[in-house]
Amino acid sequence: MPNLVIVGLQWGDEGKGKVVHHLSEKADYIIRYQGGNNAGHTVVFDNKTFVLHLIPSGILQKNKKCIIGNGVVVDPEALIEEIDFLQKKGITVKNRLFISSTCHVILPYHRLLDGIREKVQNIGTTKKGIGPAYADKYERSGMRMCDYIDEETFNEVLDKNLKEKKAVLESVCDISKLKSEIQGKRAILVDNIKEYVADTSLMINILIEKDKHIIFESAQGTLLDVDFGTYPYVTSSNPISGGVCAGCGVGPTKIDKVLGIVKAYTTRVGEGPFPTELKDSTGEYMRSKGKEFGATTGRPRRCGWLDLVALKYAIRLNGCNYMVLTKLDVLDDFEKIKICTGYKYNNEIFKDFPLSRKIIQNCSPIYIELPGWNQSIKGITEFKKLPENAKKYIKKIEQLTDVKIAVISNGRDKKETIVVDKNILK
Ligand code: GDP
Ligand code: IMO
Ligand code: MG
Repeated sequence: MPNLVIVGLQWGDEGKGKVVHHLSEKADYIIRYQGGNNAGHTVVFDNKTFVLHLIPSGILQKNKKCIIGNGVVVDPEALIEEIDFLQKKGITVKNRLFISSTCHVILPYHRLLDGIREKVQNIGTTKKGIGPAYADKYERSGMRMCDYIDEETFNEVLDKNLKEKKAVLESVCDISKLKSEIQGKRAILVDNIKEYVADTSLMINILIEKDKHIIFESAQGTLLDVDFGTYPYVTSSNPISGGVCAGCGVGPTKIDKVLGIVKAYTTRVGEGPFPTELKDSTGEYMRSKGKEFGATTGRPRRCGWLDLVALKYAIRLNGCNYMVLTKLDVLDDFEKIKICTGYKYNNEIFKDFPLSRKIIQNCSPIYIELPGWNQSIKGITEFKKLPENAKKYIKKIEQLTDVKIAVISNGRDKKETIVVDKNILK
């Protein structure tokens, strides 16, 4: 199996967790390279449901090892909670999880700052402190895992940070109380985490030299990318495949393939432009049939038709070799299915994703219409057994994007998967 990046091609929640878990059967290591516990990756198998936020979905496969790369921001409390949750479910994490010593740590004040900024910015963040932790990293005042572990450095960085943020934090909390709380919790958190901490870039490069099979699991999606997403309504990291290099400390020559995950329709949670959004009963139907509620925050996800302008943009940015089409079953009951193939703004037609926020916020979608299949595809495990109109929908997406759909997902459970092209694993 090649070293594979698995990336979301929309606004997140494409079903990455399910796909990563499925494909990690064939992998040795599964690695997260960006984001934090803003992610919610759902995995369903053997009548069990797991939602993972920080730890790669491969942890649910026996004997697979997982790495949290330096590009991830780690909230120690959330991490311990997730490790405990897994251990209680009988999943051993010890000796199977490695965390970069240079990943940045999310501290309680980052969560507070996220809440304060949200009131002004209204991005609709998860309020997990992701943006403020990345902001500290780029402002060069962040707390890395190795700094957090070393008590002296920890105290120095904490002191400096709280002084710097005093004016803003003062309005929402008692700073000296906050400081002693952070200091008080640290020892126990460090005791629980330090056994997992490693030089993960060194590790990953050795693994690659030894021809180990690696899956890099993205969080969020391409349209939430801080550089290429619908700025400012984005997350604060680079979910695109290029994020792997900086987020893991591996060179681009070490990555073999990129697999993009795309939902058969589109969803978005939080604020921001969404040209194909359906604010009507069709959108509501998609939300209810697709159980489109945030895996992290429980918020209802906004729903709409598949957007090919955005999808082609995402394929280009990621250098996608193959796609996985998920949640096709959610479209089972439609007479007609629409695909957006262009945007219209001020009498101008856009076939390429517009970068101006004014255009993307105010454009209207141009649709083509395909006949629905109007029957359940549940339980189908072979492409040839799909209804003709479902095949036509899949072929149309392939034809318009020029990228092959190698896997189709037609249900939440691991078993509800149609592998069309086994080459993705070669
Ligand atoms: P992720 O963040 O990309 O891992 O996706 P989420 O787990 O946040 O959201 C995807 C949701 O869709 C989860 O509830 C999955 O269990 C569910 N899901 C995944 N694939 C399918 C599918 O093919 N059909 C249906 N009906 N649900 C799916
Ligand atoms: P997974 O990995 C969907 C969205 C938030 C908000 C924006 C910024 O499950 O696909 P943040 O807390 O990151 O600063 O919020 O990004 N967002 C996600 N939307 N899926 C996710 O992760 C998301 N993680 C963040 O809703 O709009
Ligand atoms: Mg999710």
